[in-house]
Amino acid sequence: MMPTPSHSSFLSSPPPWLCELPKKDPWSRPFAESLLTHLDLYEGASILDVACGDGIPAFHLAHRVGPGGRVVGIDVNHAQLLRSRAVQGPYFPWLEFRHGDVRQLPPDLGQFDRITGNLSFMFFRPQRQETLQQLARFLKPGGQLVLTFPSLGTFDSLWKRVDREMVHQGFTKERERLADYITERPSAADARQWLETCGLEKIDVAEYPLEVHTGSGHEFLFHPLLRGGFLDDVYECFTDQTLADQFMETISLDIKSFVPLFAQRCVMSAWRPGVSPPST
Ligand SMILES: C[S@@+](CC[C@H](N)C(=O)[O-])C[C@H]1O[C@@H](n2cnc3c(N)ncnc32)[C@H](O)[C@@H]1O
Repeated sequence: MMPTPSHSSFLSSPPPWLCELPKKDPWSRPFAESLLTHLDLYEGASILDVACGDGIPAFHLAHRVGPGGRVVGIDVNHAQLLRSRAVQGPYFPWLEFRHGDVRQLPPDLGQFDRITGNLSFMFFRPQRQETLQQLARFLKPGGQLVLTFPSLGTFDSLWKRVDREMVHQGFTKERERLADYITERPSAADARQWLETCGLEKIDVAEYPLEVHTGSGHEFLFHPLLRGGFLDDVYECFTDQTLADQFMETISLDIKSFVPLFAQRCVMSAWRPGVSPPST
């Protein structure tokens, strides 16, 4: 979470915390760091940041491109956008937060030198290829696209433990549902293939392991990162939530069997063929 602006924020230059990636963020920050490693960033660039959420990395990008550049952050969640605009306050007037669904972006957005999206690609479903293709149309010729997402393989040791327990307890339907959830997640190989099908070039897809630390019991079950988007998938496989609670309790008391727990930070980078015209 970004801090909210204080009185001092009404000075003309933005406070350092708004220019940098948030220091105490164990999930978005490491993904954003990988994104920045692959992004060819320069002063004056125009950037579309999809699924911008709290403004990671939109605020940092706005700082780096400077007043000669332009950053448009897009998110589908209105409340999220209100928070980001409140955090922005009077700073970076060349940064705009707009409402939009990455699967159907407003056609009047124009074209950009760069398109970024930290922890974004998993939301391109169900038509990931088509969404990627549409998104690439907002790139100028010679422009670069860099997206990150937790790829297939993320928390594999946990899924194996859950699977074993489901077999042991005879949860056949639940097990099938969970397998569907997991295999629906895009892999690094899928990402590469979709980028190729979009006609993009200089494709680079890389994975960086990220260890996520957790204690057992409630710390695991209510871990802010694991719960939303990962453990919730297990609960959703059960029609009876009391059974789901009992099942997950068993898992939560056996974390020794699946730690260290690794996510795969996948970065997909590609360029639109052509020569980039000067930024306008
Ligand atoms: C995991 S957060 C990532 C936010 C930020 N980029 C970061 O790194 O912290 C995902 C964001 O994607 C947004 N989102 C989900 N589906 C979306 C869609 N179809 N179009 C645009 N934004 C979407 C959510 O509202 C949320 O703010």
